[in-house]
Amino acid sequence: MNENFTDIVDEVIENGYAKIENFISKQEAFELEKQTTKAFKKAKKDFYHIETEFTKVLSINEESSQKIKYFQYLNKFFVNKNIINFVQNYFNSDEIEISKIFLAESSNSGEEVNVLPYKMHFDKTRYLKFMIYLRDVENRDGGVTFAKKEWNTKLQEELLSKQSLKEENVVEINDMSVVEEITGPAGTVAIFDTNITHKAGQVLGEKKRLVLRIDTRLKTNV
Ligand SMILES: [Fe+2]
Repeated sequence: MNENFTDIVDEVIENGYAKIENFISKQEAFELEKQTTKAFKKAKKDFYHIETEFTKVLSINEESSQKIKYFQYLNKFFVNKNIINFVQNYFNSDEIEISKIFLAESSNSGEEVNVLPYKMHFDKTRYLKFMIYLRDVENRDGGVTFAKKEWNTKLQEELLSKQSLKEENVVEINDMSVVEEITGPAGTVAIFDTNITHKAGQVLGEKKRLVLRIDTRLKTNV
């Protein structure tokens, strides 16, 4: 893991998101890809958050990463000092938690859809998420998209002050020059706060996207 990535905290505070290539090495991404493929095969139904023809998502908590053999390769993320420091700095608090890791493989469903989470939106519940690409993501491979700072911060204040906020709030953006889609080689991470305007990427090409996502937040019970 890239040791210097704590410098990125300020960038995420400033812009709402940051991209780091080589967050993990290509080799490490390849190893994680192998172990994730195995986990998809071995995992019991209970761990499947989504299981359709085009999308498979497993959801794993820290306890499962300790107890279940085929999830043990994920434990190092739950206890990773760099990640924990990063999140503590970001939220300016020691009371943070790595709530879950999601493993997601997505493929082209044959049709382009325009529904959540593929529309620009922001979430009411605040998480800081680390989305690590385990395979290369180029155009049409379903990279995650964020609104850039100038556009985002102005709207953010307006939206967050509203009482009637829903869990996911659609935001219409017609000018695509104000957004950035995160592409990059295997090992790239997108770190983002779910309180900024974003959308999930839809896979439109032939490659299957594989992502390891670490969800972190302030502890809610303190
Ligand atoms: Fe979202």
